[in-house]
Amino acid sequence: MKDKPGEQPTEATVQGPFFWPGAPKKELGDDIGEGHGEPTLYHGRVTDTAGQPIANCELDVWSGDSEGFYDMQKGDSMSLRAQFRTDRDGNYRFWSIKPTFYPVPGDGPVGGMLAKMGRHLNRPGHMHMMLSAPGHERLVTHIFVKDSPYLDSDAVFGVRNSLIVDFPKHSPGKAPDGREMKQPFYTAKYDFRLVPSA
Ligand SMILES: [Fe+2]
Repeated sequence: MKDKPGEQPTEATVQGPFFWPGAPKKELGDDIGEGHGEPTLYHGRVTDTAGQPIANCELDVWSGDSEGFYDMQKGDSMSLRAQFRTDRDGNYRFWSIKPTFYPVPGDGPVGGMLAKMGRHLNRPGHMHMMLSAPGHERLVTHIFVKDSPYLDSDAVFGVRNSLIVDFPKHSPGKAPDGREMKQPFYTAKYDFRLVPSA
């Protein structure tokens, strides 16, 4: 992702119904997606709007599985969600899966409204992220998979162009974090900018 002109803060988008507080705390570089889908390395840097790195920023991340189902839709144990903290230079990295599109529930109020409007129920593939750091506004956002269907017709109108990210596919071999991969994998790089709190 290129630097944005004027050091604009990262755009927020909907939190959605699948945030689950108290996700397991993990170390940078850990894999929370193993066995759940196509491996993807998420990495980048968190700074403030002046470009200063934010160390120890808490990153809550969550997504659905390779069929678009979230853990809480399947049972009462957490998966594909975790909390990470940026390192002293504001960097983060973790492994999860490349998220797929999924339909919002058709029987709830949103589903009913979309049916009346004649719209489909699907959301494009995305990774939820919530960033919290002392002295900064909390950011609730997603990063969206650039080649996902439904980017131009997200059922809940959550897509922002600045949040659409390339997920290049790589052959087996050494990943940018040094991990030796025996299967193809994806990478997704995104830098976040947080707004200092008033
Ligand atoms: Fe979602």
